[in-house]
Amino acid sequence: MQRERARTIFQKGAPGRRAFTCPELDVPALPADALPERFRRAEPARLPEVSEPEIVRHYVGISKRNFDLDSGFYPLGSCTMKHNPRLHERAAALPGHARLHPLQDADRSQGALAVMWRLQQALGEISGLPHVSLQPSAGSHGELAGVLLTRAYHEDRGEDRRKVLTPDTAHGTNPATVTMAGLEVVKLATNDDGGIDLDDLRAKADAGVACLMLTNPNTLGIFDPNIEEIAEIVHGVGATLYYDGANLNAVMGISRPGDMGFDIVHFNLHKSFTQPHGGGGPGSGPIAVSDRIAPYLPVPVVAREADGTFVLDHAREKTIGRLRGFHGNYGCFVRAYAYICSLGADGLRDASETAVLNANYLLARLRQLGVAESLPLAFGSLCMHEFVLSGGPMKRDLQIKTLDLAKRLLDYGFHPPTVYFPLLVDEALMVEPTETETRETLDAFAEAIAAILAEAAEDPEIALQAPYTTPVRRLDEVAAAKTPIIRETLA
Ligand SMILES: Cc1ncc(COP(=O)(O)O)c(C=O)c1O
Repeated sequence: MQRERARTIFQKGAPGRRAFTCPELDVPALPADALPERFRRAEPARLPEVSEPEIVRHYVGISKRNFDLDSGFYPLGSCTMKHNPRLHERAAALPGHARLHPLQDADRSQGALAVMWRLQQALGEISGLPHVSLQPSAGSHGELAGVLLTRAYHEDRGEDRRKVLTPDTAHGTNPATVTMAGLEVVKLATNDDGGIDLDDLRAKADAGVACLMLTNPNTLGIFDPNIEEIAEIVHGVGATLYYDGANLNAVMGISRPGDMGFDIVHFNLHKSFTQPHGGGGPGSGPIAVSDRIAPYLPVPVVAREADGTFVLDHAREKTIGRLRGFHGNYGCFVRAYAYICSLGADGLRDASETAVLNANYLLARLRQLGVAESLPLAFGSLCMHEFVLSGGPMKRDLQIKTLDLAKRLLDYGFHPPTVYFPLLVDEALMVEPTETETRETLDAFAEAIAAILAEAAEDPEIALQAPYTTPVRRLDEVAAAKTPIIRETLA
């Protein structure tokens, strides 16, 4: 069958064609000036005019051109692309959840508030930090909440602290968040073992520091064994310690950020606690905080009264305010709560242990296949739930870069790992297999990498021109980033 040339939805259909017809209006129409003048358009918006079959085929067609977790292995480092159990979808789709209006009164949404409260309790327990807000919509949004909380805490104590320490392995959202919150980023160096350089930390920790943002294990997949000393140094100068919880999948049920000395943590519910993600959301990035940060939490917080009823508690004098409309991405809460309940405490621990085991198995298998010479492990010899290889030797010896390897993996049926992050690793390739993959899949992935390296030794052009089997071939990524055409001009 000939593949249809990609056309936007605006280029399909015909004037007057409809996928849905609204019923006759049976309530009084709003007056023309119900919407303030500044929000009104001179002309109605030009929307696509398509039939239902056209719209269904359009979006199903697009979905088939994409690579997704339900079709294959997706070892995108730092993103925890684990399988999303279908049971969670069933729970989230129950009409009592899916059809609940976000403005429903608290007394008529007790079931939903109970789910939210129980999720808060569970996240408090998992993190070792008892006060939770479910509001943030993504990890980075949780980071912003955390840095604003830190700012509010210091300001309330009359302290002017503007510096936030971020390791050079930090995810890009960490420094971006600091800047958005109006504070100043100060970089911390990494030591030879892949952890924080303690001398650099001691030199930079002073009375002007508001916070240290850290993920442990970090983005190199290495657990920093000096965490207690780090916490001591940071708390010693009166700063707070922020835990980027994106890597929680390595430590759930094993170690808790609160016990390590962290004051604030964000969770990526869409990573560690399963949610379909990778297509832009919706995500969820709740935060958990210690007693001293709790007075500043966003409002409202879901609370339980002495008689067992659930309420939306707005009474927080020192709150940083609301972070978004309504109460958060509720469907994500249901899925995360279903995940926690179906696994239980032992199951969560098991998931993390298996995630770490799978990553180390894959690393060992790659070594066994002789891959380490071209793609050595950047730091250490073992890893936590993910590992970072350096493609530097591969580039030097085989004349293919990490990007070429990644593109060629698509032809072998695998989504590429994360590339070129963390920035301190030359030609970085960051692999996170997760606990939900089988040994056969891990073996097949390792063999594909070995095969690509063998191909490149014969003829580097094969990888340089890849991919060959995808709906589109190699894209001009610079042009796509710098001059994107994101909208067709209508004829
Ligand atoms: C280590 C780390 N921190 C923070 C984030 C930000 O999370 P989100 O993408 O949900 O905003 C990510 C996301 O990839 C991450 O890997």
